[in-house]
Amino acid sequence: MSEDDATTDEQADADSDGADSGEGVVRRDRFAGGPAREFMSSLDADRRIFEADLAVDRAHTLMLAEQEIIEEDTAGEILAALDDIEEAVESEGYGAVLSEGEDVHEAIETAVIERVGPEGGRMHTARSRNDEVATCIRYRLREDVIAVLEAVAETREVLVEAAEEHSETLLPGYTHLQPAQPITVGFWLASYEAALARDASRLLDAFTRINESPLGAAAFAGTTFDVDRQHAAALLGFDGIVENAMDAVSTRDFLLETAGALSGLSVTLSGIAEDLVVYSNRGFVDLDDDYASTSSIMPQKKNPDSLELVRAVAGDAAGAHQALATTLTGLPRSYNRDLQRAGPHVWNVIDDVADAVDVAGGAIATAEWNEETCAAAAGEGFSTATGVADLLAQSGVPFRTAHEVVAVAAEDVAALEDDQTAGGAADPDAAIDVLDDAAHAVLGESITDAVEESALRSALDPTESVASRDSAGGPAPSAVEDAIESAKASLEDDLIAIVATRKGLEGAQERLESGVSEYV
Ligand code: ARG
Repeated sequence: MSEDDATTDEQADADSDGADSGEGVVRRDRFAGGPAREFMSSLDADRRIFEADLAVDRAHTLMLAEQEIIEEDTAGEILAALDDIEEAVESEGYGAVLSEGEDVHEAIETAVIERVGPEGGRMHTARSRNDEVATCIRYRLREDVIAVLEAVAETREVLVEAAEEHSETLLPGYTHLQPAQPITVGFWLASYEAALARDASRLLDAFTRINESPLGAAAFAGTTFDVDRQHAAALLGFDGIVENAMDAVSTRDFLLETAGALSGLSVTLSGIAEDLVVYSNRGFVDLDDDYASTSSIMPQKKNPDSLELVRAVAGDAAGAHQALATTLTGLPRSYNRDLQRAGPHVWNVIDDVADAVDVAGGAIATAEWNEETCAAAAGEGFSTATGVADLLAQSGVPFRTAHEVVAVAAEDVAALEDDQTAGGAADPDAAIDVLDDAAHAVLGESITDAVEESALRSALDPTESVASRDSAGGPAPSAVEDAIESAKASLEDDLIAIVATRKGLEGAQERLESGVSEYV
């Protein structure tokens, strides 16, 4: 990278000399230089679509030859030049080989013409950089989205496995970050697996619209040449074409929805990260050293920095989505140069989002749950209160009255927890005495007149409280095990879709290569 950057800078200096720079093979002098040259250039940002542009050039050239728009020999020379450019970039660096032009498309075309002569200029027949760049962005974005999907699938696998392992590990459940009801670590993990499954589904859905080819739309208004847009699209592994030529070059909605999906995904990740930061703080979980760091001054510290960074990526992704929406808003039809700044918003965040997925998954896979601390905390704050109210209601007391009985007792039951040296729920005998007083006050009878004492003891026990909430999707180990089974099935379906998608792209790549090999 740095070597390339240096070359780009040197070249930019050389280019400012103007006419001697060799500029002008593709652009005429009028458009070659000036003070805005660097500002207008996307050559550096286009590194990301360099490989994509080669593929698009190859597919377009093959299509032109097969449609007899250009001679086979010319196609062969152009395709050989493209191979040569690819090799040169590999050995000498992007900046050294591609310096002539305001973007990668011009630079490659210039390099082709340098190698082939004027006949190389036939490569750009029946197309424009407008359909070309839109195709390149989609081509590259497919790869990146698949990489994110693969990372998400792996992390979902981690969550499913950990949820299975911890389907009975108690954990306090919170609302407003206040102790609310006991749950399990498995239930918490499964809740995020479900969210990640939806994030994946949004990305997969976006993929179907990314994977359509604008190529052949030309500048925006089609072409007089007898192009076969479907064929070029198939050579590039697209499922079809973006039909309307004006729409094809103008729209970046596929980038916007991808950014939206990435933003949603990173919001999910930020929740995972935040919970783990809180759980680390409370001693429920120990992160592996690989996912923590220490303080440069306070030697005792172990900080969950990796998760704080995961949390912060959500800001980048939301920013990218917002920036993109703002850039695209109110653009007139059809192509406008504003669009040059659209792709980078997504390029700037998509790798970080994929990394954040990996880091969150890795942190969970290697975390140690402190089961005793979790279990004690799960009973604190009279977290079983709702279960006691439910029990009274099931015994015929109207729920609102049952709620009142428990509310009257709540403060005193919670205060009993201070007597527990090891923390945890109040002593059940003492809690029952307090509830009895409340029942007399509200119901005018003893609590054991309203409910069986054994049932009351169960309701007050955090483990039994969790086990009793076995409604569909509830935290009871049996319910979480059911949820895990369906999570596994949908993960399997998604994996099949992801693998098939990757295979599809690889197959197209091979077909393109073998198409090229017939000419070169
Ligand atoms: N570098 C440009 C982009 O990224 C390519 C298209 C240029 N088209 C034009 N009409 N100036 O959008």
